[in-house]
Amino acid sequence: MLKIQGLTKSFGDNHVLRGIDLEIERGDSLVILGGSGSGKSVTLKCIMGFIHPDAGTITLDGDNLVGLEGRARSAMNQRVGMLFQHAALLDSLPVWENVMFAPLRFGRVSRREARKAAVGWLERVGLDEAIAGILPGELATGAQKRIGLARAIAAEPELLLFDEPTTGLDALVGRQIDALIRSTITDMGATAITITHDIDSARRVGDHVAMLYQGQIAWSGPAANLMQSGDPVVDQFVHGRLTGPIPVPALPEARA
Ligand SMILES: Nc1ncnc2c1ncn2[C@@H]1O[C@H](COP(=O)(O)OP(=O)(O)OP(=O)(O)O)[C@@H](O)[C@H]1O
Ligand SMILES: [Mg+2]
Repeated sequence: MLKIQGLTKSFGDNHVLRGIDLEIERGDSLVILGGSGSGKSVTLKCIMGFIHPDAGTITLDGDNLVGLEGRARSAMNQRVGMLFQHAALLDSLPVWENVMFAPLRFGRVSRREARKAAVGWLERVGLDEAIAGILPGELATGAQKRIGLARAIAAEPELLLFDEPTTGLDALVGRQIDALIRSTITDMGATAITITHDIDSARRVGDHVAMLYQGQIAWSGPAANLMQSGDPVVDQFVHGRLTGPIPVPALPEARA
């Protein structure tokens, strides 16, 4: 469904993506693992067109995504729903308008219909109707993530992108979010890419996992093989070892 080939992006001397190749089948749940700053968010932003890659191709069902602008971009992005790393809710809009942002923006529903539909989406992510009218800034981080998730799925997209859906949440809320993502993929028949550095979450959410390291996909395979991939980079990362191919800066205390 989605095919990425040779995706390259630098910011000045910072060569973040050095030729990413990835493919995802329809209905599949792919997790991209990688350390902080490895380019996970940049990859998703290239898919959404928020960042223009230097080279490479991205196709959705064979249709090119790179370099699309204006109406073509907006039509394409209606096929994709994204949960942003920091939820990125609009603080000046009540929860229900955040959830129904895309359908309202593209004039697909009246405000009355939207408010009603929002309640349904909120229930689906485990939130009560009572919060529909309040501003997102008043809510806890876990609730904000759920609202972000509701917004991503309310547009009923074919492809869902989740950027660090569980980061910063306590373990129980994190597990619930993982379960919600899993059920969303199954119930809606959607295809999903989730980025995370949380190994447990990756194993719960993914059918397949790809490891991003030094701007390339170092390993990819079934999520079931993640803990015994046989790849030294993946191995060090998933088992949290301080020694291995991934350099870990020594701290003064560690040397003593
Ligand atoms: N708009 C930008 N301009 C300049 N540099 C950027 C920009 N966006 C990202 N970068 C750089 O690209 C690198 C990768 O950033 P990215 O946000 O993709 O990391 P990440 O893998 O998502 O990390 P994290 O797990 O911390 O979210 C970082 O070094 C970052 O500073
Ligand atoms: Mg990120």
